[in-house]
Amino acid sequence: MSQEQWTAVDDYLSGLVAPNDAALAAALANSAGAGLPSIHITPNQGKLLFLLARLRGARAILEIGTLGGYSAIWLARALPSGGRLITLEHNPEYADVARRNLERAGLMDRVEIRVGEAIDTLAQLSEEGHGPFDLVFIDADKRSNPTYVSRAIELAREGSVIIVDNVVRNGSVLDAESEDESVQGVRRALELMASEPRLAVTAIQTVGSKGYDGFAIALVV
Ligand code: DHB
Ligand code: MG
Repeated sequence: MSQEQWTAVDDYLSGLVAPNDAALAAALANSAGAGLPSIHITPNQGKLLFLLARLRGARAILEIGTLGGYSAIWLARALPSGGRLITLEHNPEYADVARRNLERAGLMDRVEIRVGEAIDTLAQLSEEGHGPFDLVFIDADKRSNPTYVSRAIELAREGSVIIVDNVVRNGSVLDAESEDESVQGVRRALELMASEPRLAVTAIQTVGSKGYDGFAIALVV
């Protein structure tokens, strides 16, 4: 099996079950045009987030790592009327691209983009009394994943879902001695989730158009 085949199958599956509509396609085109890194989730992964949010009946969603807003469009579309997505982005230029993409998708009435270090904006959310969030999607700098998982649990309630992207990273997660802070962040976050009695967790490796990676899903119990 090759990357070429994984991509072809992903394109086939996404084309069938999760095709990009005009707003999603424009979000990707605008993000690429603005020079954002091409590390957004795939359409069928976006559909998975949408389905998990709907399955949970999520009315309050938190995303850590907005990038160009592609995943935020999928998440915001899962909200019922009156529902709210707060998405955190460190890079103000990425946040501007995301704001335009979410506006174009007609979703800024239910989305708030907070710009800043997520460590700080997460503390703000707590101080302001936000939460509990029904679903948290963690997809930002991997080094801080353990902190993001801890904050996500604090901002959740029984029944909340926490999803962490990029937990396999081409198998690098296996390297316990890695000097890469991202690898250590992923490992520490997985260990934290595994040992946290308030979480029921699984972790799944995936292949697709984004290569060999995986995600963790946890239910707050
Ligand atoms: C990277 C980050 C991501 O969130 C992702 O899904 C893929 C790659 C990165 O920083 O390289
Ligand atoms: Mg990711």
